Amino acid sequence: MTDTASGPLTADSIAGAAYIVAALLFILSLAGLSKHEKARAGVIYGITGMVIALAATIWLTLQDAWGTGHALTGLGLLVAAVAVGGAIGLWRARVVEMTGMPELIALLHSFVGLAAVLVGWNGHLEAPALSADLMAIHHAEVFIGVFIGAVTFTGSIVAFLKLSARMKSSPLMLPGKNGINIGALAAFIALTVWYVNDSQLWLLIVVTILALGLGWHLVASIGGGDMPVVVSMLNSYSGWAAAAAGFLLNNDLLIITGALVGSSGAYLSYIMCKAMNRSFISVIAGGFGIAAPASKGDTDHGEHREITAEATAEMLINASSVVITPGYGMAVAQAQYPVAELAHQLREKGVNVRFGIHPVAGRLPGHMNVLLAEAKVPYDIVLEMDEINDDLGDTSVVLVIGANDTVNPAAAEDPGSPIAGMPVLKVWEAENVVVFKRSMAAGYAGVQNPLFYRDNSQMLFGDAKTRVEEILRAF
Ligand code: TAP
Repeated sequence: MTDTASGPLTADSIAGAAYIVAALLFILSLAGLSKHEKARAGVIYGITGMVIALAATIWLTLQDAWGTGHALTGLGLLVAAVAVGGAIGLWRARVVEMTGMPELIALLHSFVGLAAVLVGWNGHLEAPALSADLMAIHHAEVFIGVFIGAVTFTGSIVAFLKLSARMKSSPLMLPGKNGINIGALAAFIALTVWYVNDSQLWLLIVVTILALGLGWHLVASIGGGDMPVVVSMLNSYSGWAAAAAGFLLNNDLLIITGALVGSSGAYLSYIMCKAMNRSFISVIAGGFGIAAPASKGDTDHGEHREITAEATAEMLINASSVVITPGYGMAVAQAQYPVAELAHQLREKGVNVRFGIHPVAGRLPGHMNVLLAEAKVPYDIVLEMDEINDDLGDTSVVLVIGANDTVNPAAAEDPGSPIAGMPVLKVWEAENVVVFKRSMAAGYAGVQNPLFYRDNSQMLFGDAKTRVEEILRAF
């Protein structure tokens, strides 16, 4: 930052104070978002912090531009950029379906990556006049920023394509894929040393291409079941890319915010890996050390049985305890409102109703919790997988509403399955299981589900919302 005003209160010091307030609000926002009850306040803290940050940055930029006589051009460019970006953001946020959120988030991460690449390139083309030592640091910032940004850019684009089903969710298994990743990382380290000593443009071109390829390969190598970790990992990368851009732009708030996003995203990836029994290192290294699955889980499991909505209603009325395990299909069908009504009516009839939520049910962390909160399901009957799993054996009826991978017994029983080892809701231990879905199709990970063929399982085919409404009418 440049000192542009005289006296004790400089433009820098005012903007610095505003940045500290904004940074504190971002921390409060993250803390708020970690709890249902405080999530709304968390969002408001975040918005307020961003408004303060934007106002301070615009004001500081104008102060700088004033001295050079370019204030109006600077203001015009800023207003145009904020207006265009804000309008597109507002439009997308209003029209996006809840089920489309993960791919939108992946796309937004790609923009952060691209911005970091452009800031890095600008740092090379418009290098400031610095002493030799500081110049070496500047060059390291440029090179590392471009690398992280380009990995985030293509990695996020592949995640977007996979999450929006424009690309197959199964992992790309190139021969020697681990060697490719390690080779690319070694080449990056060698090129960084070279560039810091001799900042030639072609080295920047090479590292950009190398990182674009690495980002693509890292995420393409990860299978459907591990995509939740990839989304939070890219969230983390986008934070580090923003922090790298902050160093280059000499913007403290960007460094702090980038580090907050980077570290919280990394921690979320770690928690998710633990919840899914995956190695953190393997996933962030593009499936390092994960062997190709031995089986596709497409064994012949025999015949499935079907049930009607009326018969399900009767079974529910006679049940003493019911557990509802929602999944992505509930979000697609927008069935949360009739499901909440179903739970309410059963509770009024004296049935013990609870919800069991798998940590990666749906397509984004907390997806099911958000939908159930929207439909006003009381928080105290919404339990995490670990809290409910031991009770499933004593449950009269489990309603699996549009869930598939998260209730797949193959994860627990078939060591050769692509989802082997992933903890799942053990719904098959209940007395009766009713599965709401439209067909016998596999879930997101592409693995067939033996649950559908168990003696205590029955399929209720059709759109989940329509079927739950039929059950309500049958009551
Ligand atoms: P999935 O395995 O995705 O299965 C959802 C099921 O819903 C499908 O089998 C589908 O079957 C059914 N369905 C779709 N539309 C429906 C409708 N209108 N009515 C009734 N059923 C409908 O679901 P899950 O158990 O929630 O598992 C989530 C998967 O996504 C996991 O593999 C997870 O790793 C992955 N993933 C999660 C995240 C996060 S962070 N949560 C992010 C990325 C990926 P039909 O087509 O036969 O109806």
